[in-house]
Amino acid sequence: MDIIFASSNKGKILEVKKIFDGSIFNIISLYDLSGVPEIEETGDTFKENSLLKAKTIYEMHNKPAIADDSGLEIFQLGNKPGVYSARYAGENCSYDDNNNLVINQLQKFPEPHKARFVSCAVYFDGSSEFHFEGFLNGRIIKSPRGTNGFGYDPIFIPDGYDVTLAEMTVEAKNKLSHRAIAFNGLKQKLLKLL
Ligand code: IMP
Repeated sequence: MDIIFASSNKGKILEVKKIFDGSIFNIISLYDLSGVPEIEETGDTFKENSLLKAKTIYEMHNKPAIADDSGLEIFQLGNKPGVYSARYAGENCSYDDNNNLVINQLQKFPEPHKARFVSCAVYFDGSSEFHFEGFLNGRIIKSPRGTNGFGYDPIFIPDGYDVTLAEMTVEAKNKLSHRAIAFNGLKQKLLKLL
C-alpha cells in the first residue's frame, strides 16, 4: 500500500522510511513525486501542523498521507523552541544557527538543561484520520557532538545515554526516538485496520 510522507526534511524521510521498511507499506517521499510544496505551518500545536501537512498532500495527490510535526522543548526556556523549532533563529536559519542560539540562551541557567523532543505523527486518507505522539527526554549540552541526524541532534543526549543523537546511527536513533515511537504507533494501528 502506497503512503506519501508529507515532509521535505531529508533526515526525517530517512528515519520514517526505515521505520516502515519490510512492512506492506511503501513510503513515498515528496522528492519521488512532482515537487516539494512549501506548506506554511500556521498551527499553534504539533497536532494542528502535522494534520495541515498530511491534508495538503492528500488533497494534491489523492493518496493516503502521513506527516510529522516535531520539535524540541527545553524546560529552562519555558518549553521553547517548541513548534518554532525549525525556524527558532529566524526564517531560513541553519541547524547550526538554531543550536548556537539555544546554547547561548542556556548559558545563564545551571546544568543539567533538561529537555524533550516531541513528535506528532498523523495519518489522513480523506476519511480516516488519526495521530500518535512520541516523546524523548534528555538534556542539552554546550558543545555539539556528532555528524549524523539533523537539527538539534548534535546537542541532545537522551536520558540513560552518554552520546548525542548525532553520534548514533539512524537504526540506533530509531530504537528510542520520539518520531519512532509516534510512527510505530501509527504503523500498528494501520496494520490492524487492514
Ligand atoms: P517541523 O516538524 O518540520 O516543523 O520541524 C521540526 C524541527 O524540529 C526540525 O527542523 C528540527 O529543528 C527539530 N527536530 C524535530 N525532530 C528532531 C530530531 O529528531 N532531531 C533533531 N531535531 C529535531
